[in-house]
Amino acid sequence: MKFGYFDDNAKEYVITSPKTPLPWINYLGCEDFFSLVSNTCGGYSFYKDAKLLRLTRYRYNNVPGDSNGHYYYIKEGNTIWNPGWMPTKTDLDSYECHHGIGYSIFKGNKNDLAAELTDFVPIGSTCEINKLTMTNHSKEEKHFSIFSYVEFCLWNAMDDMTNFQRNYSIGEVEIHGSAIYHKTEYRERRNHYAVYSVNAPIAGFDTSRDAFLGAYGENSAPDVVVSGSCKNSVASGWAPVGSHQLDVTLAPGESRTYVFVLGYVENLAAEKWVGRPEDGIINRTPAEKLLEKFNTTEKADQALADLKAYWEKLLSHFTVSSKEEKLDRMVNIWHQYQCMVTFNMSRSASYYESGIGRGMGFRDSCQDLLGFVHLIPDRARQRILDIASTQFEDGSAYHQYQPLTKKGNSDIGSGFNDDPLWLIAGTAAYIKETGDYSILDERTPYDNDDSKATDLMEHLRRSFHYTMEHRGPHKLPLIGRADWNDCLNLNCFSTEPGESFQTFGPSEGPNAESVFIAGMFVRYGKDYVEICRHRGMAEEAALAEEAIADMEKTVLDAGWDGEWFLRAYDHYKNKIGSKECEDGKIYIEPQGFCVMAEIGLKEGNCLKAMESVEKYLDTKYGIVLLQPPYHRYHVELGEISSYPPGYKENAGIFCHNNPWISIAETVVGRGNRAWQVYTRTCPAYIEDISEIHRTEPYVYSQMIAGKDAPNFGEAKNSWLTGTAAWTFLNASQYILGIRPDYDGLIVDPCIPSFMDGFTAKRDFRGTTYHIEVENPNHVEKGIASVTVDGNAIEGNLIPVDASKKEVHVKIIMG
Ligand code: BGC
Ligand code: NOJ
Repeated sequence: MKFGYFDDNAKEYVITSPKTPLPWINYLGCEDFFSLVSNTCGGYSFYKDAKLLRLTRYRYNNVPGDSNGHYYYIKEGNTIWNPGWMPTKTDLDSYECHHGIGYSIFKGNKNDLAAELTDFVPIGSTCEINKLTMTNHSKEEKHFSIFSYVEFCLWNAMDDMTNFQRNYSIGEVEIHGSAIYHKTEYRERRNHYAVYSVNAPIAGFDTSRDAFLGAYGENSAPDVVVSGSCKNSVASGWAPVGSHQLDVTLAPGESRTYVFVLGYVENLAAEKWVGRPEDGIINRTPAEKLLEKFNTTEKADQALADLKAYWEKLLSHFTVSSKEEKLDRMVNIWHQYQCMVTFNMSRSASYYESGIGRGMGFRDSCQDLLGFVHLIPDRARQRILDIASTQFEDGSAYHQYQPLTKKGNSDIGSGFNDDPLWLIAGTAAYIKETGDYSILDERTPYDNDDSKATDLMEHLRRSFHYTMEHRGPHKLPLIGRADWNDCLNLNCFSTEPGESFQTFGPSEGPNAESVFIAGMFVRYGKDYVEICRHRGMAEEAALAEEAIADMEKTVLDAGWDGEWFLRAYDHYKNKIGSKECEDGKIYIEPQGFCVMAEIGLKEGNCLKAMESVEKYLDTKYGIVLLQPPYHRYHVELGEISSYPPGYKENAGIFCHNNPWISIAETVVGRGNRAWQVYTRTCPAYIEDISEIHRTEPYVYSQMIAGKDAPNFGEAKNSWLTGTAAWTFLNASQYILGIRPDYDGLIVDPCIPSFMDGFTAKRDFRGTTYHIEVENPNHVEKGIASVTVDGNAIEGNLIPVDASKKEVHVKIIMG
């Protein structure tokens, strides 16, 4: 069952019923100001950091769900309704939500009165625009009121939820004309405030939530809206809100547009705080400048047009045209869009991540880069340097950092032993995309301490050596607290239920080893070698090559179980992910990574591993993480066994590592199977089962319940997942096979045999490549001929030629 449809021309998903199985959201903002908005106008906004600078409040786990947002109430006679249906839930005569690329449009109709609300965050400004157009479709003159409503958050979202004794006394606002200023905390050594305004004279306002909602009132029927008249309340303490009242008269057929702006403002003049003369009164000048930028419909429309043009350009760097409409839709629009969102958010703020618990993940952000770097390489460059700056001197890394401060998060600390290698992965991807080796010269601190800075190259060296030097009894890399699989805690034991996990002291280990990290070491080690060679570090390159060869041998000796790659050894040297195990006999991750690393490719291990994945882990909704699931809790395995069978890391379909298998299938040349794996979890291909899948049909979720779970096929935790980057990589670089490399663009498709071919356009280092692939013999992989601008070339690496603006490449598969 579907709840809407894709409109590929507009690059939108159009939701036609507000009652989607779960809130289906969109992300507004590509730079510093962000808003999450659901298909019923729920959501919240923040500046840079969802924990530290939250503008509007959101209540997770609320009842009813998703009942706080940026709302517009329309009151006509006794009827109160919202263009996005919530929170009044008044039945609408028609409803549509168009989630587009960086904007959302809500179209609601009630009693011949139409509302069209367009929400977006303009490029280059720190605000959200809500453009509301009301049209009278009736034959009578209409009189109605509009009440806007946002609930301010007291900036630090964590304190906002916990420190009420203080919160209830700190709220402060100012009202000037149609602008409501939320200035809580401005009094302290802060320099920021929020402004919420509309480009028209108002009939009145409210800024006290209690006044607006009324005693025991709620968002679904605010006192002010029900009564039809605002109270001009000025909040002092308690809960500040922003609400404008507009009284409107429209002749038959007449339309009127209002532009509301919710902005984040920094008063830079007030940076030096002590002894500030205004004494708590805000400096409105920067806000007024911001509001002036969008104070007419024309200006707002222009800002939306600019946003659309910005995205057109970004999405033009890679496009495909094939007979597979859904593939084209995902590759050209939604894969890349989700890559931008994950790049911006890491795993911090969604409808499933509170924005408070996690900042930017070291591992996560390095992977997010992989799918983003072709969009805006400069931002990827800066991100790499920010991430590397949180690394420790020994090569290990803070697992997360806060986006506002860019400092490592000491609550979580380090010890995830895959982290260092992801830095090599991200940096290699950047260099392959741009050819910009100068990034390696950038002075980059350790633990944000400038006095300890080295160049980035040295960070990479320490990353590689960290893994090399931290090996266990079988010479495999030590896993530490966990590797990619956060829940595989093989060195941990808990003493009593309810007590926290403890790690072994150094003298007792920890010993647990990871075959997955070994796969990473081989795969990204090869990049490290290339980079060393390019820097003239011949000795280091040779040393690294030897270490890689040794690791490959180690994996084949100690990490192969006969039919598949083992997952790990626990602290007690027991095998994990082996046929000898009672549960968890086979895991997906090492099959993906060791095959991508081509460990035992010639010897046949790779193909065997892929066959085992298909045989033991496959389901109709995707590949599960392991089989059989753990049926009971194991202290020696940790969190993984705490999940009920079929959920999350315990045999859920963890979408993130499905593309690893699809890519691995391209390594062994099985295009049909790579395609099957790709399409089984791909949103556009499973749109028809939205009632089972339940999350948004235009983006990936972190997990789909596996076959061992009661709700097999149900997805959870949409949007913020490494699946975004890895699937875009899979589709663009491995299935379509258009892959940036150090010295040029590799074209090496591995497609399903039914495909006749495709054409693609790829911007790469200043040149546009028009690539035409023909598959006359319906093979899955292999190239019969390559011509570049009409000339046949040897091999399939199209060398960089900066003198050319356009290059035409023709590939005949065979
Ligand atoms: C995992 C979760 C886990 C969390 C904390 C996440 O990466 O997906 O299952 O609960 O980390 O360890
Ligand atoms: C989600 C985390 O963000 C990611 O870092 C991790 O690799 C996966 N869960 C698997 O545990």
